[in-house]
Amino acid sequence: MIELVTFDFHNTIAHCDDWFQLEIRMLPVAVLEQLDPETLTRIGSEEIVAAYRTLRMSVIESGVEIEAIDGVDRVFRSFDLIYDREAIEDAVAGVMGRSVTLASPVPTAIEAIRFLRERDIRIGVVSSAVYHPFLEWTLERFGVADAVEFIVTSASAGIYKSNPELYRGVLAEAGVQPDHAVHIGDSARWDIWSPQQAGMRAVLVPNGEPISPLQHDTDATPDHVAETVLDAAEWVLGQQAPRLTIDIFTLFPPMFTGVLGESILKRAHAKGLIDIRVHDIRDWTHDKHRTADDTPYGGGAGMVMKAPPIVEAVEEVLGDDLPNAHIAIMSAGGRRFTQEIAQELSEHGRIALICGHYEGIDERVSEILQADELSIGDYVLTGGELPAMVIADTISRLVPGVITEESILDESHLGEYVEYPHYTRPQEYRGLEVPEVLLSGHHAKIAEWRADQAKLRTAKWRPDLLKDN
Ligand SMILES: C[S@@+](CC[C@H](N)C(=O)[O-])C[C@H]1O[C@@H](n2cnc3c(N)ncnc32)[C@H](O)[C@@H]1O
Repeated sequence: MIELVTFDFHNTIAHCDDWFQLEIRMLPVAVLEQLDPETLTRIGSEEIVAAYRTLRMSVIESGVEIEAIDGVDRVFRSFDLIYDREAIEDAVAGVMGRSVTLASPVPTAIEAIRFLRERDIRIGVVSSAVYHPFLEWTLERFGVADAVEFIVTSASAGIYKSNPELYRGVLAEAGVQPDHAVHIGDSARWDIWSPQQAGMRAVLVPNGEPISPLQHDTDATPDHVAETVLDAAEWVLGQQAPRLTIDIFTLFPPMFTGVLGESILKRAHAKGLIDIRVHDIRDWTHDKHRTADDTPYGGGAGMVMKAPPIVEAVEEVLGDDLPNAHIAIMSAGGRRFTQEIAQELSEHGRIALICGHYEGIDERVSEILQADELSIGDYVLTGGELPAMVIADTISRLVPGVITEESILDESHLGEYVEYPHYTRPQEYRGLEVPEVLLSGHHAKIAEWRADQAKLRTAKWRPDLLKDN
């Protein structure tokens, strides 16, 4: 289960070379240009760039990061230049602030962040930046500040990014186990080696630009290489173990295409919350005609589905999960499927639904697989496919995350009564007005009205549900 995805910033979320050059090369020069241009001319930019490079090299060697203002101040002091700290802070903010407007989002990065957030995955940014506010301002400008739960920079942590301690700190702070977290970035050392050392998985999204050898002096192998940031996010999702897996066994797999490929079930599948797989029982038959049925012993009308293909299919597909899975045969004479049974099954994790056809299924399938038998109502359908769809749909919507929790809390078949009636726009239709109370905004009165209506509807349509009927 992936709970947290951290993103690198430079060239993963933002193209911001101007800022990057400031961070690694030019910051003291740009600041001095603001504070004291004459002194800059006297000393010369090259001297200052060289002093900053020496400082940066010592950071890289020690693994201990220095925050931007301190770094600039140290360089100045090495030339015996003493400036008021506030003046340095203002000048750094001014220089960095200007480069925010030059930053542009990496293609698909914003979509990737939103995509993961919509699927309840927590998002953090882990960057080698030495000036923390630049990231806050940029994410704000890109409109994703709300989606990003935290930003950790080398500056804020005091740890250079190639040091795995940076990621260990992130995980501890977020309260997430390393194997529940993935980092996405563009540098082998900073974004792959380092998070992997901390136990995380790491995805490389090469940015296609030449990268300094410093970033790549490692043979770390990414867990995945993605073409775009969105591809990386989709890969992350693919790593999720679904909360519910339903295997459906049928002679007619195409019947399921529409139901599983639309709407809520499709989204739940895309979110990685459920996995519904349809298997063709004929793939486990033993003859070239793929015979799955035969005439009944004792005579009688119709054909009976043979036991061996079904038993072997279920055993092979469920594998080690067989003893723990809930196996149910669709059966007109089975126990009646209810919301209560759906709730129980939704908490099960692994379910197999077997669809009968013709006269039904050889009784030994039920015995061998110790199967449950479920009926969706007191009528006979031509096959178990529709019942399997009904059951899969009912169970899936109860899996946490598939639909909003409020929708599940208050609906028919949870208590004694069915649900109250609903209305939406237009307010008047063919002379029928929406009940006044629903427009009042008075929550207590609305609740009271709905409770009364639920009783009336139950009495009208389902009197059998009322306790004292
Ligand atoms: C035509 S029915 C067989 C009916 C069976 N001879 C009987 O009288 O109970 C074929 C298959 O449809 C499925 N089926 C039919 N009605 C069902 C229902 N109400 N609930 C669940 N499954 C049903 C079962 O899988 C059944 O094996």
